[in-house]
Amino acid sequence: MAQPLAAEVVAAPDLDALSRLVAERVAATVTAAVATQGRCTVALSGGQTPLHLYRLLAGEYRHTAPWNRVEWFWGDERCVPPVHPESNYAAAWAALLGPLRVSSGMVHRIAGEQEPAVAAAAYDLVLRDRLTGGRFDLVLLGTGTDGHTASLFPGSAALDERERWAVAVTGGADLAVRQRVTLTLPVLDRARAVFILVAGGDKRAVLRRVFEGHATDPVARVHPEGALVWFVDAEADPRLAGAG
Ligand code: 6PG
Repeated sequence: MAQPLAAEVVAAPDLDALSRLVAERVAATVTAAVATQGRCTVALSGGQTPLHLYRLLAGEYRHTAPWNRVEWFWGDERCVPPVHPESNYAAAWAALLGPLRVSSGMVHRIAGEQEPAVAAAAYDLVLRDRLTGGRFDLVLLGTGTDGHTASLFPGSAALDERERWAVAVTGGADLAVRQRVTLTLPVLDRARAVFILVAGGDKRAVLRRVFEGHATDPVARVHPEGALVWFVDAEADPRLAGAG
């Protein structure tokens, strides 16, 4: 299949192998950033796909990078309290940040319990204060079956935001939590590295559009100034023989 994608694509047979390849690249990215800057800023993805990665980073990979020098952020958050089962912060704390015993001062969660526009404005200020040169060192993203990424949903006005780095959005009626706060394309595109993790056959159609180069999906509109790496498992990879 034609692959006009300018990005790097890393293929893995399954989610475990994919997560291990990502863990190695995350550790290398963090180690390099800390070596040159003394710190590293990482935006975590929500959803289910990265949870195995998070548990690996806190477990088998806990000694592979100076995690205590990382400042942790999120690509998006559902507007719920931080203990809510739908909270991306709660999921990442349980799988990664708690087990790593990360200092709370290094964790910049989006205040999901606040009014969305207020939480977005506050997060925007934190980003402008904490990001070295206004850039994330690493952003982890996923994609939905509709091609959304973070909480940038198809057709959303947030996709046209050019100034603010974080905005409040309302997702579709299919979502368990419709009110969200999300990073916007300007700050995603300033990133030094973006890793997009895609696993499962239900994501194959999105990847097919992306790999064929004519995708208008939000996930295809992330064009970081730095590295863009897609990590895909065999079920999601449309290039494999027999892929439906
Ligand atoms: C979220 C995520 C979202 C996620 C995709 C994929 O808050 O849900 O930020 O963008 O990455 O919806 O989710 P899964 O990994 O659960 O398929």
